[in-house]
Amino acid sequence: MSLFRKKNIEHMLAGAQSTSLKKTLGALDLTFLGIGAIIGTGIFVLTGTGAVQAGPALMVSFLVAAIACCFAALAYAEFSSTIPVAGSIYTYSYATLGELAAWIIGWDLMLEYGLATSAVSVGWSGYLQSLLSGFGISLPTALSAAPGALPGHVTYFNLPAFLVMMVITWLLSIGVKESTRINNIMVAIKVTVVLMVIAVGVFHVTPANWHPFMPHGWSGVFGAAAVMFFAFIGFDSVSSAAEEVKNPKRDLPIGIISSLAVCAVLYVAVAAVVTGIVPAAQFANISHPVSYALQVAGQNWVAGFIDLGAVLGMLTVILVMSYGQTRIIYAMSRDGLLPAKLSSVHPRYATPFFTTWLVGIFFGLIGALVPLNVLAELINIGTLAAFSMVSIAVLILRRTHPELPRAFRCPGVPVVPILAVASCLFLMVNLAKTTWIAFVVWLVIGLAIYFVYSRHHSKLGRTVSRAASPEREAVTR
Ligand code: ALA
Repeated sequence: MSLFRKKNIEHMLAGAQSTSLKKTLGALDLTFLGIGAIIGTGIFVLTGTGAVQAGPALMVSFLVAAIACCFAALAYAEFSSTIPVAGSIYTYSYATLGELAAWIIGWDLMLEYGLATSAVSVGWSGYLQSLLSGFGISLPTALSAAPGALPGHVTYFNLPAFLVMMVITWLLSIGVKESTRINNIMVAIKVTVVLMVIAVGVFHVTPANWHPFMPHGWSGVFGAAAVMFFAFIGFDSVSSAAEEVKNPKRDLPIGIISSLAVCAVLYVAVAAVVTGIVPAAQFANISHPVSYALQVAGQNWVAGFIDLGAVLGMLTVILVMSYGQTRIIYAMSRDGLLPAKLSSVHPRYATPFFTTWLVGIFFGLIGALVPLNVLAELINIGTLAAFSMVSIAVLILRRTHPELPRAFRCPGVPVVPILAVASCLFLMVNLAKTTWIAFVVWLVIGLAIYFVYSRHHSKLGRTVSRAASPEREAVTR
């Protein structure tokens, strides 16, 4: 039964009051945090792969992925407004599904956030190199990409990807406030660039390029949706910031849903424009498809700005993903499921300094050594699994804790959470078999760590076994 031991929600809420993290964020900060996390490698880089797979119907793929995210986001928002404590769905599931499920979810989230930072740093590196080539500068090929990433070339290490991770890690390690301000500026730049793509590109669309609309049928559309889901990942990182929000009950749901809605509209428009300018099949092997479309349209200046905006804008994705990652590890360590050192807070910066650097260096190396396409699918499967579980948890919490005040209530319960589970599973089924195998290996490693270490070090477990005032000690530190 200890596998199902749960945190006491009332004590968790009390524990959140005694946190040592600074409370500085408001609704607008959160919306910016969300958009900062969402728009990145997905739209700027994977759009090319998606267009090849789905054709102009990539627009539909984006919609399918957005609908799946929307259902999950509604469940997310209910959770994040009910239990505003750090750690995202890991924390929520600890109170509803029990310790083992919480561990699995936390473990999935590490896959999501950690590998996403690596993946985006690879995308960033591609656009940086495209930008530099406009000035006639090129890196030594050996240091431009991960081993095996460029067919026909010998490559060892993606140096720009690694260096950008180190800079972001430094920013995060010195404090939330500074990083958030930088994030807000970057988001403004990124949204401006995306709007520029749409506003300029629309005049170069040749409607004939939209025929055939679905060259590979529905399987192409759904396969692309499963990959392009990556482009929406990030809205959940808003809820990971819960303990640093001034008014979480009101601000968290606003932040999650508004950032997702803005991005969905922009993505469909970008997909329509780029596939209207360039026949979809021509995007094969193009690492900067969005600026490429504008080059094809003869808008070289605009293409240059897109390269620059993408380079600046993707920085925020790495920033917010790294942020989410460190806060989940912080929460898991605080609960005793990971070593205590990982939740130490820096006395001056009030950040999990040690964890930030540990994670930054580790995933920086992964970004430098593993190709992008391998990373993207793996991230999606971990995230979709976690989203399915949170949607189940929202249903459980309605039954077990109907009395809890919820600033935001997911509409259409139980239909919406059930649709969220169904759509996440549907996208998972459309991912490659190798991705499934890697995911199962990741889960098995996670379970081994849980049974060998975490289960015996869990603070909740120790307080329960002493039969003393349950959970209090575990959540108030
Ligand atoms: N959604 C993020 C991106 O597209 C992860 O880069």
